Amino acid sequence: MDQNALKRIVAQAALSEIPDGALIGVGTGSTVNAFIDALAASGKSKKLAGAVSSSRATSERLTAIGVPLLDANEVEALELYIDGADEIDSNLCMIKGGGGALTREKIVAAISRRFLCICDFTKRVERLGRFPLPIEVIPMARTYVARELRRLGGQPKWREGFITDNGNHILDVAGLTLDDPLSWEQRLNNIPGVVTNGIFAQQAAHLLLLATPQGIERYERPLPSR
Ligand code: A5P
Repeated sequence: MDQNALKRIVAQAALSEIPDGALIGVGTGSTVNAFIDALAASGKSKKLAGAVSSSRATSERLTAIGVPLLDANEVEALELYIDGADEIDSNLCMIKGGGGALTREKIVAAISRRFLCICDFTKRVERLGRFPLPIEVIPMARTYVARELRRLGGQPKWREGFITDNGNHILDVAGLTLDDPLSWEQRLNNIPGVVTNGIFAQQAAHLLLLATPQGIERYERPLPSR
Protein backbone atom coordinates (compact mmCIF):
# COMPACT_ATOMS: atom_id res chain seq x y z
CA MET A 1 0.00 0.00 0.00
CA ASP A 2 1.46 3.41 -0.89
CA GLN A 3 1.94 6.27 1.54
CA ASN A 4 -0.84 8.39 0.02
CA ALA A 5 -3.34 5.57 0.51
CA LEU A 6 -2.28 5.32 4.18
CA LYS A 7 -2.75 9.08 4.57
CA ARG A 8 -6.29 8.80 3.18
CA ILE A 9 -7.09 5.88 5.53
CA VAL A 10 -5.87 7.70 8.66
CA ALA A 11 -7.65 10.89 7.56
CA GLN A 12 -10.90 8.91 7.31
CA ALA A 13 -10.29 7.34 10.76
CA ALA A 14 -9.87 10.81 12.29
CA LEU A 15 -13.47 11.75 11.41
CA SER A 16 -14.89 9.69 14.27
CA GLU A 17 -12.79 11.73 16.75
CA ILE A 18 -14.47 15.02 15.75
CA PRO A 19 -17.54 15.83 17.86
CA ASP A 20 -20.46 17.45 16.01
CA GLY A 21 -20.67 21.18 16.65
CA ALA A 22 -16.98 21.38 17.64
CA LEU A 23 -14.59 24.27 17.16
CA ILE A 24 -11.39 22.70 15.89
CA GLY A 25 -7.87 23.66 14.92
CA VAL A 26 -6.55 22.39 11.62
CA GLY A 27 -2.87 21.86 10.77
CA THR A 28 -1.02 21.87 7.46
CA GLY A 29 0.36 19.30 5.04
CA SER A 30 -0.64 16.45 2.78
CA THR A 31 -2.18 14.30 5.56
CA VAL A 32 -4.27 17.25 6.71
CA ASN A 33 -5.29 17.88 3.10
CA ALA A 34 -6.59 14.28 2.99
CA PHE A 35 -8.44 14.98 6.26
CA ILE A 36 -10.08 18.10 4.79
CA ASP A 37 -11.16 16.06 1.74
CA ALA A 38 -12.63 13.41 4.08
CA LEU A 39 -14.46 16.10 6.09
CA ALA A 40 -16.09 17.36 2.90
CA ALA A 41 -16.94 13.91 1.49
CA SER A 42 -18.54 12.78 4.77
CA GLY A 43 -20.63 15.93 5.22
CA LYS A 44 -18.99 16.44 8.66
CA SER A 45 -17.68 19.81 7.49
CA LYS A 46 -21.27 21.10 7.67
CA LYS A 47 -21.57 20.05 11.31
CA LEU A 48 -18.54 21.97 12.59
CA ALA A 49 -19.03 25.23 14.47
CA GLY A 50 -15.84 26.50 12.86
CA ALA A 51 -12.08 26.16 12.65
CA VAL A 52 -8.87 28.04 13.33
CA SER A 53 -6.37 27.35 10.57
CA SER A 54 -2.59 27.05 10.85
CA SER A 55 -1.72 28.35 7.36
CA ARG A 56 -2.96 30.19 4.31
CA ALA A 57 -2.96 26.92 2.37
CA THR A 58 -5.24 25.22 4.91
CA SER A 59 -7.49 28.30 5.15
CA GLU A 60 -8.09 28.17 1.40
CA ARG A 61 -9.06 24.50 1.55
CA LEU A 62 -11.35 24.93 4.55
CA THR A 63 -13.07 27.91 2.95
CA ALA A 64 -13.57 25.91 -0.26
CA ILE A 65 -15.52 23.23 1.65
CA GLY A 66 -17.61 25.77 3.58
CA VAL A 67 -16.04 25.54 7.07
CA PRO A 68 -16.36 28.91 8.89
CA LEU A 69 -12.89 30.26 9.75
CA LEU A 70 -12.20 32.00 13.03
CA ASP A 71 -9.27 34.20 13.97
CA ALA A 72 -7.18 32.68 16.79
CA ASN A 73 -7.70 35.91 18.76
CA GLU A 74 -11.47 35.37 18.77
CA VAL A 75 -11.43 32.04 20.56
CA GLU A 76 -10.56 31.15 24.11
CA ALA A 77 -10.06 27.45 23.51
CA LEU A 78 -10.49 24.89 20.76
CA GLU A 79 -11.78 21.42 21.45
CA LEU A 80 -9.34 19.57 19.24
CA TYR A 81 -6.32 20.26 17.02
CA ILE A 82 -5.72 17.89 14.09
CA ASP A 83 -2.38 17.77 12.34
CA GLY A 84 0.25 15.50 10.82
CA ALA A 85 3.92 15.23 11.81
CA ASP A 86 7.30 14.74 10.20
CA GLU A 87 8.42 12.48 13.07
CA ILE A 88 6.71 11.23 16.24
CA ASP A 89 8.19 9.30 19.18
CA SER A 90 6.70 7.03 21.85
CA ASN A 91 5.94 10.02 24.15
CA LEU A 92 4.02 11.58 21.24
CA CYS A 93 6.62 14.34 20.94
CA MET A 94 7.04 15.42 17.35
CA ILE A 95 9.12 17.22 14.79
CA LYS A 96 6.93 19.42 12.61
CA GLY A 97 7.43 22.19 10.10
CA GLY A 98 8.41 20.30 6.96
CA GLY A 99 5.78 22.46 5.26
CA GLY A 100 7.05 25.58 7.04
CA ALA A 101 3.87 26.26 9.06
CA LEU A 102 5.38 25.34 12.45
CA THR A 103 4.80 28.63 14.29
CA ARG A 104 1.09 28.90 13.55
CA GLU A 105 0.74 25.15 14.11
CA LYS A 106 2.25 25.50 17.58
CA ILE A 107 0.00 28.45 18.43
CA VAL A 108 -3.17 26.65 17.35
CA ALA A 109 -2.05 23.50 19.19
CA ALA A 110 -1.44 25.59 22.33
CA ILE A 111 -5.00 26.95 22.37
CA SER A 112 -6.50 23.48 21.83
CA ARG A 113 -7.49 21.14 24.66
CA ARG A 114 -6.34 18.03 22.78
CA PHE A 115 -3.93 17.36 19.91
CA LEU A 116 -4.84 14.54 17.54
CA CYS A 117 -1.88 13.58 15.38
CA ILE A 118 -2.59 11.64 12.20
CA CYS A 119 0.21 10.08 10.22
CA ASP A 120 1.48 6.97 8.53
CA PHE A 121 3.92 4.49 10.09
CA THR A 122 6.96 5.96 8.29
CA LYS A 123 6.81 8.95 10.69
CA ARG A 124 7.16 6.82 13.84
CA VAL A 125 10.73 6.98 15.27
CA GLU A 126 12.59 5.80 18.38
CA ARG A 127 14.33 9.14 18.77
CA LEU A 128 13.57 12.47 17.10
CA GLY A 129 16.19 14.00 14.83
CA ARG A 130 16.60 12.05 11.62
CA PHE A 131 14.32 14.58 9.91
CA PRO A 132 16.18 17.93 9.76
CA LEU A 133 14.64 20.19 12.40
CA PRO A 134 12.87 23.23 10.91
CA ILE A 135 13.48 26.49 12.78
CA GLU A 136 11.67 29.71 11.87
CA VAL A 137 13.93 32.74 12.25
CA ILE A 138 13.62 36.51 11.86
CA PRO A 139 15.41 37.20 8.52
CA MET A 140 18.04 39.59 10.01
CA ALA A 141 19.03 36.94 12.59
CA ARG A 142 19.46 34.05 10.13
CA THR A 143 23.27 34.01 10.01
CA TYR A 144 23.65 34.55 13.75
CA VAL A 145 21.18 31.77 14.58
CA ALA A 146 22.92 29.45 12.09
CA ARG A 147 26.27 30.10 13.87
CA GLU A 148 24.71 29.33 17.26
CA LEU A 149 23.18 26.12 15.89
CA ARG A 150 26.59 25.00 14.58
CA ARG A 151 28.01 25.65 18.05
CA LEU A 152 25.38 23.23 19.42
CA GLY A 153 26.49 20.54 16.97
CA GLY A 154 23.88 21.08 14.25
CA GLN A 155 24.30 21.60 10.51
CA PRO A 156 21.80 24.31 9.56
CA LYS A 157 20.71 24.79 5.95
CA TRP A 158 18.76 27.86 4.85
CA ARG A 159 15.54 26.89 3.03
CA GLU A 160 16.32 29.39 0.28
CA GLY A 161 13.44 31.01 -1.56
CA PHE A 162 10.92 30.01 1.11
CA ILE A 163 9.14 32.69 3.16
CA THR A 164 6.79 31.64 5.95
CA ASP A 165 3.23 32.97 6.29
CA ASN A 166 4.73 35.26 8.97
CA GLY A 167 7.34 36.72 6.57
CA ASN A 168 10.28 34.84 8.11
CA HIS A 169 12.99 32.39 7.01
CA ILE A 170 13.46 28.69 7.83
CA LEU A 171 16.69 26.92 8.78
CA ASP A 172 16.56 23.11 8.49
CA VAL A 173 19.01 21.67 11.00
CA ALA A 174 20.55 18.22 10.61
CA GLY A 175 22.80 16.43 13.08
CA LEU A 176 21.20 17.34 16.42
CA THR A 177 20.77 14.48 18.90
CA LEU A 178 17.36 15.30 20.36
CA ASP A 179 17.53 12.91 23.32
CA ASP A 180 15.51 15.24 25.59
CA PRO A 181 13.02 16.95 23.26
CA LEU A 182 11.52 19.27 25.89
CA SER A 183 14.85 20.78 26.97
CA TRP A 184 15.99 21.08 23.33
CA GLU A 185 12.75 22.85 22.48
CA GLN A 186 13.33 25.37 25.27
CA ARG A 187 17.05 25.78 24.59
CA LEU A 188 16.57 26.50 20.88
CA ASN A 189 13.77 28.96 21.57
CA ASN A 190 16.18 30.93 23.77
CA ILE A 191 18.43 31.88 20.85
CA PRO A 192 17.64 35.51 19.97
CA GLY A 193 16.03 35.66 16.53
CA VAL A 194 14.37 32.24 16.75
CA VAL A 195 10.61 32.57 16.37
CA THR A 196 9.80 28.87 16.90
CA ASN A 197 11.49 25.54 16.46
CA GLY A 198 9.75 22.47 15.11
CA ILE A 199 10.04 20.35 18.27
CA PHE A 200 6.55 19.78 19.69
CA ALA A 201 7.29 18.46 23.19
CA GLN A 202 5.50 21.16 25.15
CA GLN A 203 2.63 20.68 22.72
CA ALA A 204 3.01 16.90 22.36
CA ALA A 205 0.02 15.03 20.92
CA HIS A 206 -2.60 13.51 23.22
CA LEU A 207 -3.75 10.94 20.70
CA LEU A 208 -1.93 9.41 17.74
CA LEU A 209 -3.71 7.57 14.96
CA LEU A 210 -1.00 5.76 13.01
CA ALA A 211 -1.76 4.17 9.66
CA THR A 212 0.12 0.92 9.04
CA PRO A 213 -0.32 -1.64 6.26
CA GLN A 214 -2.03 -3.84 8.92
CA GLY A 215 -4.53 -1.15 9.96
CA ILE A 216 -4.86 1.87 12.26
CA GLU A 217 -2.94 1.84 15.56
CA ARG A 218 -4.09 4.10 18.38
CA TYR A 219 -1.79 5.58 21.07
CA GLU A 220 -2.98 7.84 23.90
CA ARG A 221 -1.17 10.05 26.38
CA PRO A 222 -2.95 11.12 29.59
CA LEU A 223 -4.52 14.58 29.39
CA PRO A 224 -2.76 17.18 31.52
CA SER A 225 -5.06 19.21 33.80
CA ARG A 226 -5.55 22.72 32.41
C1 A5P B 1 3.73 21.55 8.15
O1 A5P B 1 4.48 22.65 8.50
C2 A5P B 1 4.17 20.34 8.89
O2 A5P B 1 4.30 20.49 10.26
C3 A5P B 1 3.30 19.14 8.58
O3 A5P B 1 2.31 18.96 9.54
C4 A5P B 1 4.12 17.93 8.57
O4 A5P B 1 5.22 18.26 7.78
C5 A5P B 1 3.41 16.71 8.01
O5 A5P B 1 3.17 16.88 6.66
P1 A5P B 1 2.66 15.71 5.72
O6 A5P B 1 1.32 15.31 6.21
O7 A5P B 1 2.61 16.35 4.34
O8 A5P B 1 3.67 14.62 5.80
